This record gives sequence, structure tokens and C-alpha cells, in this order.
Amino acid sequence: MKKKLRIGSLISGGGTNLQAIIDSCANGKIYGEIVFTGSDTPDVKGLERAQKAGIDTFVVDYKKIIQDAKENLNSLVLPNDFNFDDIKAKQQLIKNGADGKKIEFFLKTRAVAERMLLDKIEPYKIDLLVLAGFMRTLTPYFIDRVNWVKGEHKIMNIHPALLPAFPGTDGYGDTFRYGCKVGGCTVHFIDYGEDTGPIIGQRAFQIEDKDTLDIVKQKGLALEWQLYPECIQKFAKALISKL
Ligand code: GAR
Repeated sequence: MKKKLRIGSLISGGGTNLQAIIDSCANGKIYGEIVFTGSDTPDVKGLERAQKAGIDTFVVDYKKIIQDAKENLNSLVLPNDFNFDDIKAKQQLIKNGADGKKIEFFLKTRAVAERMLLDKIEPYKIDLLVLAGFMRTLTPYFIDRVNWVKGEHKIMNIHPALLPAFPGTDGYGDTFRYGCKVGGCTVHFIDYGEDTGPIIGQRAFQIEDKDTLDIVKQKGLALEWQLYPECIQKFAKALISKL
């Protein structure tokens, strides 16, 4: 029997991409299985989808961690292996020259949340981590611990725009408001920047003058559900061929 890719997944919401990946694993379009689904938000529909498919789930409640730290920054228990200067030098999410307190708050709260994620994730020994509508940026603290083989990418993301256009949290909205006549989605590996990592695949669609933002989102999502499983399968084939 062929080796199957061990895939971890992180979500924040409805999980329609997660569902497409679950279905593609079940019908053999991906040589792999999802071994867990983690969420930064409790009670989202994507967690229900995972549970229905018999997949282990967990939540690391980012909002609560950030709120508690706002009330008392000293309450944060930083990971033992967190080196603030190292992470600050590597990170490309907040511009150098930004308010030092803001960078400190961001990197420290994220390190606490990311350590919790890592504690959940590490026992599963995954080959690939897929972000499927995970609406949090990841810092070098987390990325370096998942990409533990230097130069090998193990974290994949789907973004709702044709990168490098419109990075950020509202790809379809930004595409639509700009008046673009073509929209699309991109699957890429995660690096230290926001939506800047190497591109694995892209798919485009026409935006007609009559299209609303909702239609643009529907057209885009329908392509995401094809593109993401195809890119994961490309990764699985490449990995399996090395074994
Ligand atoms: C998708 O459109 C995905 O591209 C986007 O969130 C949506 C999640 O939908 N991701 C991002 O914007 C990441 N920055 P889903 O939960 O139904 O898969």
C-alpha cells in the first residue's frame, strides 16, 4: 500500500476548504489523511466538519490569550525556548520602525499561542500543515519549529486573490473594490512575510460587470476547492517519490 501523507490542518471558520480536502483524501484524489484540525476560534463550523469525519480537533483561543495579555502583559508565560531578539530580527509581518511596544506585544502573545499550537501538533508527526481559512499570521517562532528541515517548506496556505496582488485578510473584497476584471486564488508555502511565500498553484476567473462581491466570493471558493487538493496532491506525490 502507498504511504499516505500525514496532514495537519488549521482553520478559523466555516471550513469549506477543509471539507474539500477531507473529501479528496477519502476519494483518493489526495494520497493522504488529515490527522487533526485545530482552530483559533471555538465553536466554528469547520470543527464540526472535522469531528463528523472522525478527525481529532482542538482549539487554541487566540482572542482570549490576547485579551488576557491586554489586561496584564506580565501574565504571559513565555515559552522557555522563545528568544525575542531572534524572532524580532527574522519577522517580516510588522515593519521595522513600527512602535516597539506593538511589536513586543504581537510577538509575545503569538509565541504563547503558537507554543500551545505546537504542543498539540507535535505528537502527530505530520508531513504537511495546511492552513484552510486560518485567519492568523504565523511568526518565525512557529514556522521554524514546523519547518525543522532547513530549506524544506511544510506549511501551505490558500489565499483568496492572485498573489502578489492583494495580500491580507480580504482578498476577494480587495479584488472586487479595486474593480479588477479577473480574480483568483493562490496556494503558496508560508514564509516569514504576509502571503509572500513561494507559489504552488493559482486559478483565475472572470469578473463580469454585473457581479456582486458575493458572486465573486462564490466563483473564487469554487476554484479554491479544486486548487487546494490538487496542490496538496502535488506535494504528496513529490514527497512519496523521495521515499
Ligand atoms: C477562503 O476564501 C480562504 O481563501 C480564505 O478564507 C476563506 C476560508 O473559507 N483565507 C484567507 O483569507 C487567509 N488569509 P473556508 O473556511 O470556507 O475554507
